[in-house]
Amino acid sequence: MDIVVENLVQVFGDAPKQVLALDRVSHRFPSQKFTCILGPSGCGKSTLAQIVGGIEPYTSGTVTVGSDEQPLGTHSVMVWQHLNLFPWRSVIDNVAFGLEMQGVGKAERFERAKALIASVGLRGFEQHRPPQLSGGMRQRVALARALIMERPVILMDEPFAALDAQTKIVMQEELVRIYERSKRTILFVTHAIDEAILLGDEIVVMTARPGRIKEVIKVDLPRPRSQDMVNTPEFGRLYDRALHLIREEVLNAMQQQDAAAG
Ligand SMILES: Nc1ncnc2c1ncn2[C@@H]1O[C@H](COP(=O)(O)OP(=O)(O)OP(=O)(O)O)[C@@H](O)[C@H]1O
Ligand SMILES: [Mg+2]
Repeated sequence: MDIVVENLVQVFGDAPKQVLALDRVSHRFPSQKFTCILGPSGCGKSTLAQIVGGIEPYTSGTVTVGSDEQPLGTHSVMVWQHLNLFPWRSVIDNVAFGLEMQGVGKAERFERAKALIASVGLRGFEQHRPPQLSGGMRQRVALARALIMERPVILMDEPFAALDAQTKIVMQEELVRIYERSKRTILFVTHAIDEAILLGDEIVVMTARPGRIKEVIKVDLPRPRSQDMVNTPEFGRLYDRALHLIREEVLNAMQQQDAAAG
């Protein structure tokens, strides 16, 4: 399901303290592709994901997900850095929550939840509660909870940012595997260049605030992908390009801050 954003503008606050967060952003996020959004802090990455997910209203422009007239959010689910799991509910009850809200009966929702829990490597933990799990395990629960909705679009906002380096690698490979199997349209927000290259089919690099699209980098690395690819010349070439673009933008952002302070 394509996501088409045209001339999207987002202004926060009231004059004279307005913040222009997104400035005429236009992009077509292709159906069943994995698109990473990379950019310096405060450039509007989360804002863009939240608008596409129907969580945040926007100032002007158009955003369409799929070809129907359904409200934004109908075809997507979000996975955040802060997972918002219910700590008092078991893993299976957390994963099955969305189905419960839809009125799906207990036998069916548990069967579907169990299958997804197994697919993210948590078989045997169905009755645990989130506080009894590690950060990586909780992240898997959040992923399963999103996947169970079977929506064609998954919006992810720095979902692995709080994980330790090793767990992050495992979760990235897990997500690659899930994506390659299920072919949803994924929009994945990240600060991390290596993560964007490993996961994405394309990388949308944004400018420092106000957020605009600076460049779209195509990632032609073959799939299935794995962490071993980080040592290939192609990976290095993509890394250098993205780093160059991001460095420019981080410097711009610093200059803006200096100007505002001075
Ligand atoms: N609800 C809001 N009210 C006012 N300003 C906001 C609001 N949400 C975001 N902003 C501002 O809009 C800009 C973009 O914010 P956003 O959170 O989208 O950036 P980001 O790229 O996700 O940053 P980070 O990488 O730090 O998560 C920032 O300057 C932020 O302060
Ligand atoms: Mg953000």
